[in-house]
Amino acid sequence: MKTIRVMTIFGTRPEAIKMAPLVRALDSRPGIESLCCVTAQHREMLDSVLEIFHLRPDYDLDIMEPRQTLSTITSKCLLGVEKVLQEARPDLVLVHGDTSTTFAGALAAFYQQVPVGHVEAGLRTLDKYSPFPEEMNRTLVGDIADLHFCPTPANRQNLEREGIGDGVFVTGNTVIDAMATTVDKDFSFSTPLLNELDYTGHKIVLVTCHRRENYGEPMANIMTALRRLVEEYPEVELVYPVHLSPVVQEAAKRYLSGHPRIHLIAPLDVQEMHNLMARCYLVMTDSGGLQEEAPALGKPVLVLRRETERPEAVRAGTVKLAGTEEEAVFSLGARLIEDEAAYREMAHAVNPYGDGHACRRIVDAIEWKFGLREERPEEFRA
Ligand code: UD1
Ligand code: UDP
Repeated sequence: MKTIRVMTIFGTRPEAIKMAPLVRALDSRPGIESLCCVTAQHREMLDSVLEIFHLRPDYDLDIMEPRQTLSTITSKCLLGVEKVLQEARPDLVLVHGDTSTTFAGALAAFYQQVPVGHVEAGLRTLDKYSPFPEEMNRTLVGDIADLHFCPTPANRQNLEREGIGDGVFVTGNTVIDAMATTVDKDFSFSTPLLNELDYTGHKIVLVTCHRRENYGEPMANIMTALRRLVEEYPEVELVYPVHLSPVVQEAAKRYLSGHPRIHLIAPLDVQEMHNLMARCYLVMTDSGGLQEEAPALGKPVLVLRRETERPEAVRAGTVKLAGTEEEAVFSLGARLIEDEAAYREMAHAVNPYGDGHACRRIVDAIEWKFGLREERPEEFRA
């Protein structure tokens, strides 16, 4: 029987969460030899995901440095992945999303003339500095890739506008597959605070904020607005698992520490995070992943950014762009805390990003492309 060797390459927390169910799906197919390479652009935050999903990478480049720059990440990944590819000789490399690992992994594969599949392809803002550097990373990977696995039909249209039509599959986002294994209504948290919170009497606002383009003034504005919300509304309690980036740690401490209803906590493992999201009142975030997860759980999201490459949930009415100005963030937050009708209008579960079968479609598409399967897989329809 013909077999193909497929190597997944990832390095940060969100890539790992979204690639984990795909690695499992690849492992389960007899026609595929599945290999996994992590760059460890993130260390602790990556290891936490590997542990939850019981993943044991075949290669670990261990590149992370404190306060790493885009150039150090990219060059260390490029050199490290080159060696791995020369040794492992895969038939296909799969990268995910838009990080520096994604870009360098795809470029290293191209230099070795190994075909590339891009998971979570076709997301665009068309502003090359926002999100930075992610918009450029994913656009460049779009040019390099041979197979493009788009979460939604709108993502495919973005690629079509760039003249990319071949090898494109609409599959849904693999994060919805991951959530099928993490969300549990009887979940008991291992972080004591999360078991002690008053989820019915208080309004628990889940916050994350880490994007590079928000460093400096935008982050200061956002955090000042968040503090005002807690000070103004005694029923509001804010839970913010702070990203390990020293820049983010310093800002969170400066603007948000020292208030009894603001909990600055360590990054949560993904199971704790998804189950906290399922129980909270409102999500305020600049994260990409949270914009996809919260709508599936019926939680309103205020996006702490000027634009989003994920317009589907905005159209569905469960996500609003709040921007990064203090007054706008405060007043949109205040409205959802005060006005029950406005809240209810946003708090309905929608699933524009997937139906939990993205990984099966991606692996079927790979098998079809490599001649291991006759039928082209059916596509995800939102
Ligand atoms: C990266 C991605 C971003 C993604 C984010 C997810 C790039 C350029 N950026 O941004 O697209 O949204 O991951 O979280 O690829 N750190 C630790 N331990 C960890 C992880 C990070 O100490 O486990 C610290 C290190 O000091 C590191 C810094 O955080 O230098 C920044 O990490 P980096 O990967 O460069 O940037 P992120 O902001 O995490
Ligand atoms: N996440 C997590 N623990 C945290 C914060 C986030 O497990 O403390 C998860 C979150 O549920 C989502 C992913 O990490 O699946 C998003 O990662 P992040 O916000 O770092 O990156 P982005 O999605 O913005 O690229």
